Amino acid sequence: MNIVYLNGQYLSMNDAKVPVMDRGFLFGDGVYEYIPVYHGIPFQFQKHFKRLQTSLEKIQITISFTERHWLDILAKLIQKNAGNHLAIYLHITRGVAAKRDLAINQVFTEPTIFAACFPLPTVSHSEAGIKAITLEDIRWAWCYIKAPTLLPNILLRQQALDRKADEAILIRNGEALEGTQSNLFIVKNGHVLTPPKTTFVLGGITRDLILEIARGKREPIEETPISVAMLKTADEIWLTSSSREIAPVIQLDDNPVGNGKPGQIWQKMIKAFQSYKQELFKVS
Ligand code: PDD
Repeated sequence: MNIVYLNGQYLSMNDAKVPVMDRGFLFGDGVYEYIPVYHGIPFQFQKHFKRLQTSLEKIQITISFTERHWLDILAKLIQKNAGNHLAIYLHITRGVAAKRDLAINQVFTEPTIFAACFPLPTVSHSEAGIKAITLEDIRWAWCYIKAPTLLPNILLRQQALDRKADEAILIRNGEALEGTQSNLFIVKNGHVLTPPKTTFVLGGITRDLILEIARGKREPIEETPISVAMLKTADEIWLTSSSREIAPVIQLDDNPVGNGKPGQIWQKMIKAFQSYKQELFKVS
């Protein structure tokens, strides 16, 4: 996993250098994607590509690469790292500035494009479940942009870790929105619910796939606001992301969720999710 991509070159991680006036370094001025790779193939790539394009557009960075071009860059990176199951971190910044000025016309280079491979965390699908706490959402109002300016997320997640929990579920105006690195689902009376996509929530690729799978099977699933009261009385809570897939939450703020074990609807959904992946790689 030592070879990275930087601005058209494949280099060893130690040789990859970015100038100190790069706006990613100075201001966190950029966007990113985290893409799981199974059997050497980026999973749900088209959706990651579309989200990347939206993020770039929203922060006014223009990169005219097609989906094919991105795929070629990543395929070469995967091959150079002899990758089969891994995660790709793709990070784009506005480029290098002449001076430290917020104005974006100070940039005199093309955007900086960096991609690296990392091991995929192992997820156990018969898992014991994770613990979560609720915290007030202190992030900005454009959380739908996948931006590397993650200081609030870092501090919130650290509070969770300090309280021996794995993730914090973020509350804004009395509504539970998502985790610091994950989307939120709850189960209530047999219905699966997830907050709608607004500017306060990242449109997760895993979230969308769960909706697609459940709708395909005509399972009751709905995009609807989740109040703190609904969260606290949920029969099941799940947190989803490209790295964790669907993690069942068994404890919220020191109270058991449901019977304190991963729920039955989670069991069904994780099976359906795994079958979806298996089918995909059978035909490709
Ligand atoms: N994060 N919400 C937030 C705030 C996230 O950071 C993430 C993912 C998600 C889930 O999105 P997806 O299903 O597309 O992974 C939701 C990635 C994994 C990260 O920051 O590394």
